[in-house]
Amino acid sequence: MSTLNVEVLQNGSVHNGDSIINEGHELDEYDFSRFVDRPRLLNLERQRSCDEKSLNDFSVGFSPHPSLRADNFSRAFDNLDGLYSPGRRSGCNTPMSHFVYAMMAPDPHPMIAEAWDDLRRALVYFRSQPVGTIAALDSSDEKLNYDQVFVRDFVLSALAFLMNGEPEVVKNFLLKTLRLQGWEKKIDRFQLGEGVMPASFKVLHDPIRNTETLMADFGETAIGRVAPVDSGFWWIILLRAYTKSTGDTALAEKPECQKGIRLILSLCLSEGFDTFPTLLCADGCSMIDRRMGVYGYPIEIQALFFMALRCAMILLKHDGPGKDLIERIVKRLHALSYHMRNYFWLDLKQLNDIYRYKTEEYSHTAVNKFNVMPDSLPDWVMDFMPLHGGYFVGNIGPSHMDFRWFCLGNCVAILSSLATQEQSSAIMDLIESRWEELVGDMPLKVCYPAIEHHEWRIVTGCDPKNTRWSYHNGGSWPVLLWLVTAACIKTGRPQIARRAIELAETRLSKDGWPEYYDGKQGRYIGKQARKHQTWSVAGYLVAKMLLEDPSHLGMIAIEEDKHLKPVLRRSSSWTA
Ligand code: GLC
Repeated sequence: MSTLNVEVLQNGSVHNGDSIINEGHELDEYDFSRFVDRPRLLNLERQRSCDEKSLNDFSVGFSPHPSLRADNFSRAFDNLDGLYSPGRRSGCNTPMSHFVYAMMAPDPHPMIAEAWDDLRRALVYFRSQPVGTIAALDSSDEKLNYDQVFVRDFVLSALAFLMNGEPEVVKNFLLKTLRLQGWEKKIDRFQLGEGVMPASFKVLHDPIRNTETLMADFGETAIGRVAPVDSGFWWIILLRAYTKSTGDTALAEKPECQKGIRLILSLCLSEGFDTFPTLLCADGCSMIDRRMGVYGYPIEIQALFFMALRCAMILLKHDGPGKDLIERIVKRLHALSYHMRNYFWLDLKQLNDIYRYKTEEYSHTAVNKFNVMPDSLPDWVMDFMPLHGGYFVGNIGPSHMDFRWFCLGNCVAILSSLATQEQSSAIMDLIESRWEELVGDMPLKVCYPAIEHHEWRIVTGCDPKNTRWSYHNGGSWPVLLWLVTAACIKTGRPQIARRAIELAETRLSKDGWPEYYDGKQGRYIGKQARKHQTWSVAGYLVAKMLLEDPSHLGMIAIEEDKHLKPVLRRSSSWTA
């Protein structure tokens, strides 16, 4: 672990909206897309300047395809209409909002108060300021690194605090992790990239000297020395959520924040030997942080990459060093969305095409571009694929198609609008038609299906924590409830989220908010699951708040840019 004294930064002001209008809408009848880009707090001028900055102020330095023009990207951020929804879950301070809540809101579920207690107990303080939340409050088991603040885990706590009108801890976290990014990072004699964000950090108290120190893990102490590729993406996504939610554009505009974004992205946008616009990664570099056969081009990273690029477009200043980067982002977004929407997308038609593929094709006319062998099609996928529905497969590389369904990547693809509207609906159709497999008794499977027997030996390296239908290998993770809820709201299907939340409410609190569940149906508390896992708690709260007030979606979802749509339909595009 790297250790260094870091002083608390307190620059910049946080704007807590005090003029709030509550909208008591009936969920099912909504056009949810209109929530996606609505600012939440009064400070319109500043909010507008931040959002509209996307591409308006710069000219792309290459011959622009119409879809790459600045106004196309920024159009998605134009619909600022000055209407607001409550910044505080129960603390709305206008008489109107009290009235509407009293009339419309059902009694809050008793689990909500319990969850808030847990979440507040999980707060970690550094020099008297809250800077994050601990991964798990479970004292019964060996702690390993569950006593740390994980970047990816904290995003959930952060969203809960933002939705509740408490942005301070989020701002402190963003600034603190930014300072950690600036550390010199080494594994043995190898120096890591400047932009790498930590997987996690911890506050060390020295009772004798009465000092506090931060310790960060950039992968150099992690089990398996895995690289936290997702941390930087989550940091950018959270910065945009904070800005959107508070209207405080000053934080993102700070030179150190701008530099932080640039450093993260220059890790991913640098030129190399790549033949694809997707990001090449080692195994275990995201939420699935163990060997699980997710090396190469895992969907989770690709979706987060896309989301982070789109958020960066909003946050980056369009002058000075940001300008050149934005040009590269635009090009990459275009190539990435084309690649993902065409090659990662799987539905019945496409599956049938693969089933009948010819192999060993050479040259530009190849239909089977990645030389996928039809014999590598697993039996399960033929039954799993519904008549209506589809999803982004887990991974694609040379002669390699990982057909597994991964929850996080597919939901982030919906939220970021990497998925077209048709693809987003198809993903929701699939979740509905494969409810038993993907939701079962506890939402939601991290991936489907599990790897078993010999394949498990080869792919996981005989990992006893990742046995079939456990943990990352087909385990059920309550934290994913928020993601599916957000995806449901974006696609106008809140009833699916309600069903999943009700299911979780039958067990989560009784079982002590476990990290994950085991078994084909997710019926058993995970063998090595921590209890009082903070992101299980925060994920539930975020899901509830999203359903209660769908305008919260705006901080974590981005509207589709129509011009990024592929012209051809998925299957025919293989022959294009
Ligand atoms: C486990 C999970 C990882 C999570 C961490 C802390 O390592 O695999 O995704 O961030 O626990 O909860």
